[in-house]
This record gives sequence, structure tokens and C-alpha cells, in this order.
Amino acid sequence: MSQGSKGPSKLMLAIWLIVMVFIAFKFFGGSSDETSVGNTTDSATLERIQPVGEVRVESAVASASGSGAERSGAELYARCQGCHGTGAMGAPKFGSLADWAPRIERGIDDVLQVAIAGKGAMPPKGGCSDCSDNELKSVIQYMMDSTK
Ligand code: HEC
Repeated sequence: MSQGSKGPSKLMLAIWLIVMVFIAFKFFGGSSDETSVGNTTDSATLERIQPVGEVRVESAVASASGSGAERSGAELYARCQGCHGTGAMGAPKFGSLADWAPRIERGIDDVLQVAIAGKGAMPPKGGCSDCSDNELKSVIQYMMDSTK
């Protein structure tokens, strides 16, 4: 009877000691020489978490940018360059006054309407389906300005 109760309590004491030693080691290890490591781990963890947050914010901004934040013409030109950079398939070529002069004469708003609707080999909005009308206008202005 007495042995039966002494056995488990000794075992409990041993476990308790191990736990205490473990905690003490963790505590002292963490507070003395591993403080900086602990901190860098924390910031490393934050850094690993942050990009996810940033991507979420960016995609939220991107989905809102259809009507909100505008990208510049120079930035979006990359989407049109494939055809307009070389004049492929009869696209008015970037920097070519001969190509753009008649369109500049028609006025940017008219040209914009054509670009939104698409024409010939050019898909609607020049394939930039996520471009707002204003953004398309900026790119067109950018291409028109390239002839100056
Ligand atoms: C797949 C090739 C292609 C891409 C990509 C493309 N275009 Fe074009 N684009 C053309 C062609 C071809 C024409 C000439 C159409 C015609 O006059 O028959 C044209 C014509 C135009 C015109 C003149 C329209 C008019 O009234 O004469 C504008 C403005 C224009 N594109 C803007 C853009 C913009 C802005 C982008 C990028 C967002 C873009 N294009 C991307 C092929 C392309």
C-alpha cells in the first residue's frame, strides 16, 4: 500500500524535476545569450508572415484599381509593346509619326473608343482587359507622345 503510493509520487517528482530543469534551461538560455537569437527569430517570423499580408493588400488594391489607383502609360505600355513596339500586323508603331499623326488628328477620345472596342488584329482594349478607360488613354497618350 505504502509502496504503491510511493512509486507514482517518486515518478511524479522526477517528472516535475525534469520539467523544472527544462523550464530553467529554456528561461536562462532564452534570457541570457539567446535573447538576440530569439528576437531575430521573431522578426524572421514576421518577415515570413509579412509578404503574405502584402500580397493580400496588393491584390486588394489591384482588384480595386479597375476604377481606383491608376497605372501610368509608360508602365502599361509593356502590355501593348508586343504589337505596337514593332508595328506588327499593321499596328501603329511606337515612335512613328507617320503611323500616329492621322490618329492624333482624329483626337485621342475617338482613338480611345476604337482601342476599347478593338479593331482588326487588335483585341478589345488591346488585350489589357484589366485596364480602365483612363489607363488606356494614358497609354495611348504615351504612344502618341513617342512621336514628338
Ligand atoms: C495583338 C497586337 C496588339 C496589341 C497587344 C495591342 N494592339 Fe493596338 N493595334 C493593333 C493593330 C493591328 C492596330 C491597327 C488596327 C487597324 O487600324 O486596323 C492597333 C491600333 C491601335 C490604336 C489605334 C486605333 C485607331 O483608332 O486607329 C490604338 C489607340 C491602340 N492600338 C492602342 C493599343 C493599346 C493601348 C494597347 C495596349 C493596352 C494595344 N493597342 C495593344 C494591335 C495590337
